[in-house]
Amino acid sequence: MNYPDLKKARLRTDNDVNVKEVKYDFDAIFKGKKYFLKTYGCQMNMHDSEEIRKYLEVLGFTETNQLELSDLVVLNTCAIRENAHDKVFGYLGRCKHLKREKKDLILALGGCMAQEEGVVSEIKEKHPYVDIVFGTHNISSLPQMILEHKEKEQNIEVYSIEGDVYENIKYSRDSKISAWVNIMYGCDKFCTYCIVPYTRGKQRSRALDCIVEEIEGLKKEGYLEVTLLGQNVNAYGKDLKEGYDFKDLLERVAKTGISRIRFVTSHPWDFTDEMIDVIAKYENIMPYIHLPLQSGSDRILKLMGRRYNKEAYLTLFNKIKKKIPNVSITTDIIVGFPNETEEDFMETLDVVHTCKFDSAFTFIYSPREGTPASHILDNVSLNVKEERLQRLNEVVNRYSLENNKRLENKIVKVLVLDENIKDKNKVYGYTETMKLININGGKESIGKIIDVKIVEAKSFSLDGEVI
Ligand code: 5AD
Ligand code: SF4
Repeated sequence: MNYPDLKKARLRTDNDVNVKEVKYDFDAIFKGKKYFLKTYGCQMNMHDSEEIRKYLEVLGFTETNQLELSDLVVLNTCAIRENAHDKVFGYLGRCKHLKREKKDLILALGGCMAQEEGVVSEIKEKHPYVDIVFGTHNISSLPQMILEHKEKEQNIEVYSIEGDVYENIKYSRDSKISAWVNIMYGCDKFCTYCIVPYTRGKQRSRALDCIVEEIEGLKKEGYLEVTLLGQNVNAYGKDLKEGYDFKDLLERVAKTGISRIRFVTSHPWDFTDEMIDVIAKYENIMPYIHLPLQSGSDRILKLMGRRYNKEAYLTLFNKIKKKIPNVSITTDIIVGFPNETEEDFMETLDVVHTCKFDSAFTFIYSPREGTPASHILDNVSLNVKEERLQRLNEVVNRYSLENNKRLENKIVKVLVLDENIKDKNKVYGYTETMKLININGGKESIGKIIDVKIVEAKSFSLDGEVI
């Protein structure tokens, strides 16, 4: 495939003006039309959806949360595990039915799955009713593809080489209080089980000044919180020749004075002492770190290509706990990596008992086509894997509850985000340590940081009252 003229592609659709310079009259075509956008997967995908939403709104579409009412369906997909994949194909079935009734419905599939090996040909062969397929590097082409969709049977744009980094992207953000900010794209780590380096390409960091400028702009707009996003934020800047790194970025962002700064995801390999010092030094950098462990067994960690061992993880964990007061640390753990033995699994449990994580996302290993681990012949049955997951979850949940119980009757600072969907007499927000908290109280606290007394702690959330 020829390397596309990406600069032009971005310019063509970068903002309202540039899109409108093309020969079409959007209002005439799309005014009154509705789009339905469904996002699968991680925060990175949700943030991509905020870019997609902006483009669709520039074209004149308005959003609906009812699939049946839509004229355009966009599925922004995830490929991290097989079940994410299955869910999307399941949903495509529903869209196919709808398309039978609504002939003009435009159906677009984008995101990580589109970049996955074999998926484009599968869609071509088995799902010809999908009108548009766009990859993670082709989001900015979506408006043009929608405009041109009638000219081609199936409009497919998926680059096999990662895209450039573009600045000044416009977003239609989900929240007016808390914003995601990309600091980098892709990942160079190539953990042997992981599809991300293939679906998102190699690491590309954004320019530090541009990130800071974006955050200053958000602060001016009234945002109280930013979450810096990257697959591996601690490696920020390593691909640039400028010589700055994540600690420099964090420090500059802290100095903007925005109330709350968060970042995900960290990788133990690139986490330096200087980064811990900066996090500890600034009050507006939140004491919360998501630090994926994946496994506690040195043998499995090596097979996973994680480049740290159990001891190094624990040393880092203890350093963070010691230097950052009241820090909460969460993690990701995979069980059932090919040929994981009971001893390997016990090593993982041992780390969980030592670290007593505030919470953990736990997964059964899922082979992903094209990754090195998918070629390893596996002798562990699914039953054993499921049983390990269950045992792990019991321990993880016990420590989550214990950690949360320790907060009962304490007063914490909460950024209130919105009404509780189920109970309109409550609002919800997050503590500095990223714990979800439901609060008895009215809408007037939304968009504010308030003091809340914790009255009851559960495994996955806290209940509090305004004081
Ligand atoms: N199987 C199971 N879990 C996976 N993850 C990534 N790839 C896989 C896979 N093939 C998990 C890791 C990662 C999280 C986002 O998803 O724990 O940290
Ligand atoms: Fe995947 Fe590893 Fe990169 Fe995380 S660090 S995105 S697990 S390859």
